Amino acid sequence: MTQDELKKMVAEAALEYVIPGTIIGIGTGSTANHFIDCLAGIKGRIDGAVASSNASAERLAAHGIRVLDLNSAGELSVYVDGADESNHHLHLIKGGGGALTREKIVAACADKFVCIADSSKLVDVLGAFPLPVEVIPMARSMVARELVKRGGQPVWREGFVTDNGNDILDVHNLDIMEPARLEQDLNNIPGVVTNGLFALRPADVLLLGTEDGVKKIT
Ligand code: A5P
Repeated sequence: MTQDELKKMVAEAALEYVIPGTIIGIGTGSTANHFIDCLAGIKGRIDGAVASSNASAERLAAHGIRVLDLNSAGELSVYVDGADESNHHLHLIKGGGGALTREKIVAACADKFVCIADSSKLVDVLGAFPLPVEVIPMARSMVARELVKRGGQPVWREGFVTDNGNDILDVHNLDIMEPARLEQDLNNIPGVVTNGLFALRPADVLLLGTEDGVKKIT
């Protein structure tokens, strides 16, 4: 199976977590896109969706799925999203698509976070994938210096602007042995909007697409 077929398989499997008559949160990226396409088939069963990016909002709307603003949606029954890496504790690195801040906000509003990913995303230790950090543009150099002090090698994602109008630094070679501690530490640097570690609020379920089918990790 191709990586894309594995992503599609887990996206279909995640439909099981959709609770009829509720509003659900939707992630960003190619796996989340498959989920949106699957959701279109059962759109009459949900009250609507909150998107974690403009791209996902557009895709939902194109399928005729009602898109709500988070402020008017309140609590979400479930949040379904992909990841760039997950460890066995379901701590994640996200933000390869640059939507990490809204993803973290929407995930925080959900009763359950279902992560959907192909098997290449499961790792023993996070950090081979460079950690995305969203920064206020005027603080980019200052934050980069702080990241170097912590052993990272930040690379400015030049030419990319987040949906919030900010910059992204992709940080290579960070030692991520304690994801929750590092998540908190990096978020305390002035100018950091948020970082792509999802450890303080990890996923509750990981649906992993493998050659042997969908593997569920909790
Ligand atoms: C978007 O900002 C990311 O967090 C994505 O969820 C992550 O990059 C996974 O993307 P794919 O589903 O495209 O692999």
